[in-house]
Amino acid sequence: MCGIVGYVGPNSSVTVLLGGLSRLQYRGYDSAGIAVLGTDGVLETRKHAGKLQVLIDDVDALPLIDGQTGIGHTRWATHGGPTDANAHPHLGDDGKLALIHNGIIENFAPLKQELLDAGETFTSDTDSEVAAILVGRAFRESGDLTLAMRQVVARLEGAFTLLIVHQDRPGEVVGARRISPLVIGLGDGENFLGSDVAAFVEHTRRAVEIGDDQIVTIRPDSVEVTDFAGKAVETREYEIAWDASASEKGGWSSFMRKEISEEPDAVYNTLLGRVVDGAVAFPDLGGLTDEVLGSIDRIVIIACGTAAYAGMLGKYAIEAWARIPVEVTLSHEFRYSGPILNDRTLVISVSQSGETIDTLMAVKYAKVEGARGLSICNTQGSSIPRESDAVIYTHAGPEVAVASTKAFVAQITALYLFGLHLAAVRGSLSAAQLTRNVEELQAIPAKIAEVLVASEGIGQLAGWMADTRSVLFLGRHVGYPIALEGALKLKELAYIHAEGFAAGELKHGPIALIEPGQIVFVIVPSPRDPSSLHSKVVSNIQEIRARGARVIAIAEKGDAAVLPYADEVIPIPLAAPFFEPLLAVVPLHIFALELATAKGLDVDQPRNLAKSVTVE
Ligand code: G6P
Repeated sequence: MCGIVGYVGPNSSVTVLLGGLSRLQYRGYDSAGIAVLGTDGVLETRKHAGKLQVLIDDVDALPLIDGQTGIGHTRWATHGGPTDANAHPHLGDDGKLALIHNGIIENFAPLKQELLDAGETFTSDTDSEVAAILVGRAFRESGDLTLAMRQVVARLEGAFTLLIVHQDRPGEVVGARRISPLVIGLGDGENFLGSDVAAFVEHTRRAVEIGDDQIVTIRPDSVEVTDFAGKAVETREYEIAWDASASEKGGWSSFMRKEISEEPDAVYNTLLGRVVDGAVAFPDLGGLTDEVLGSIDRIVIIACGTAAYAGMLGKYAIEAWARIPVEVTLSHEFRYSGPILNDRTLVISVSQSGETIDTLMAVKYAKVEGARGLSICNTQGSSIPRESDAVIYTHAGPEVAVASTKAFVAQITALYLFGLHLAAVRGSLSAAQLTRNVEELQAIPAKIAEVLVASEGIGQLAGWMADTRSVLFLGRHVGYPIALEGALKLKELAYIHAEGFAAGELKHGPIALIEPGQIVFVIVPSPRDPSSLHSKVVSNIQEIRARGARVIAIAEKGDAAVLPYADEVIPIPLAAPFFEPLLAVVPLHIFALELATAKGLDVDQPRNLAKSVTVE
């Protein structure tokens, strides 16, 4: 949450900062602000509640000085409401220092009291202003911005990224990182800081990771990184695989629409190079050698939100293919449940951003307890892979819309690939079974493309339902996580009550919700499925229809048994049972998008949400 950008170099910092913030907006959009430092030692700050556009319009109307040093912030409010006063930057040292912050300073209350007792005054309700005033006071003593930062972070508790500029230090931005994300962008005669590489990918593809409890000072020609004690640390430079255009909207009406259209590519690219001669090939699973994988006797998948539903599908597939018990736990519940872990436990974290703090803290916890760690992640250089023994990157490309879509199908693909790899290592599937499953996976991109075409009428369906106040979703086995995902998308995008249920649970309570006109989406298993799930779900449809529900079935093409009982059928191509979710989810993503659009809502930036949840 909160996006941060910093710049030093010869170009207009206003342009660089506003451009960076526009790419970071998915991290929070309650307010935005920038501080710019001119070479003549003038510091100017501008900040506004509301989306970035409010700030951009204001800067257009009344330009700021065109400094070459600056910091910018887009906020997801934690301490203090989304007001102008609480927007960042915050000032210290009599307005000569500006600071931006992502995270939560947990001990801000006693620090604030100490500063009030010392005669300081505050203009906001934020925890961040405490840090601004503290760094300002420390700088006044030494005139050294990096030292001032070091002295202050030693007193702060919690998770934070801080960036500061001071009018007496033109050409210098100092950043500090504890848990919350921060990366460096290396330019030619200019350098950048950002919450993630999106902040500066427009200007450079060279990035450097910063570890926990480190301080960085950037100047146009230098980058210095130390630990919190001031000792120089080694850093790792990497090339950003995404180019700036990948995170542009192009001609699409929204990022979400564009990203749903990229779902076939997300699966295809995640498979790319990982299937050789019909077998799964992971040449580099770091510490997770075949020997280690052979010794694993339990897997725990941890994730939040949509990634957790991908995790549920991973559980079904890994258990079926590799015959290892798998649990799925929400990351924020994991640490607090006293999980039993050892070196035979593999903890798989699933995260698009690689920065979700609950997942990051759970990964760190598992590491300390001796478990093995595998990260499934979409973002190079992010924190969670750094804390893991191995990483499988999903190659979905940058995902900008707050609600995750293409990353979801890529996460399922990566989990399935890993499940098949594990089955091969452990000999739990025959060569023929492995090949058949790999072929099913390889066929998915073309089938999703078919679903995208077949789903074109969903806009009309959603238009009729624009006034609906509640939608239910039913699924069984691998259809159940898809029901949960369908409901989550509707809640977050269309702001209506939506719930997903395991269809078998219907008669244990949820059926009481059914009244005439209640819309229910049902994910119908294939009639070719050897289990009897298809007929059971068709019976469920009849039960809710008998009570007046309006049923929209997502069913395999040619499934004649469903037709008499469904009001609408959205057909999906034939696929083996484990692979149907990758198809069934697509119309649900589109439905949520279309319903939110019909209601006139902002699908890329739904209210109250942020894409990267970096505060607990
Ligand atoms: C937020 C986003 C969701 C996402 C979840 C987990 O809630 O709005 O779309 O699924 O975080 O994010 P991660 O980056 O860990 O996958």
